[in-house]
Amino acid sequence: MGRLAIIGGSGFTTLAGLEILSRRAVSTPYGTTSAALVEGRLAGAPVVFLPRHGDHHGIPPHRINYRANIRALADAGADDVIALAAVGGIAPAFRPGALCVPDQLVDYTSDRAHTFHDGDAPGDEVVHIDFTRPYCPTLRQELVQAGTAAGIDVLDGGTYAATQGPRLETAAEIVRLERDGCDLVGMTGMPEAALARELGLCYASLAFVVNWGAGKAAGAIGMDEIHANLALCSADVLRLLGALAAGRARAAGA
Ligand code: HPA
Repeated sequence: MGRLAIIGGSGFTTLAGLEILSRRAVSTPYGTTSAALVEGRLAGAPVVFLPRHGDHHGIPPHRINYRANIRALADAGADDVIALAAVGGIAPAFRPGALCVPDQLVDYTSDRAHTFHDGDAPGDEVVHIDFTRPYCPTLRQELVQAGTAAGIDVLDGGTYAATQGPRLETAAEIVRLERDGCDLVGMTGMPEAALARELGLCYASLAFVVNWGAGKAAGAIGMDEIHANLALCSADVLRLLGALAAGRARAAGA
């Protein structure tokens, strides 16, 4: 078990319950992070927090500097990274309000800086990371167990479709993703997960469903619906993270 970082997604520009000890702006060889890194304690466990979309949720998915964010977390000493992600549900079990810990992904994004190994640096070698299992099994398990400890139902597994955004999908695109075997859809899961793997970080996602994927429910997807479900999920996400952090604090004190 290593030092924990949490990347906040939509609905999590701050992390309620985090006792903040420091806040520092960071720049990396890849540019600046989405926001200052916040270091603090959650339920007694040290945590580094970074809101992916910036302090005011102003950075859209395709403009996030994923490389700077992941590099900065690694430089801050993070070993384990929990990525929070608001998603749309595709498969029937992935209904609005559900929490899930995906175990696979399919990448549909394009034109994002998606590797630290572009061949630009002198002496850089071609690197092909293994990505058979894109999420860290031990951190996934810890998230699922924290859900059990907190009395929250968590869907253990599922295939995450990473789309380019910022628009939501068409109904036909959701049918295609379903045919591809995807259970949930979001816009920020890649290249974040692959970059974390390139740096040897243990990365897992805690996703929460804020709407049915396009065409899965009658009518258009409304922001009111998304915000209402975000509020519904936030309490469970925070309780689960609190349980996970408390478990870590206990283990460290033992
Ligand atoms: N599609 C893609 N990303 C999302 C969705 C969606 O329906 N909901 C929240 N993030």
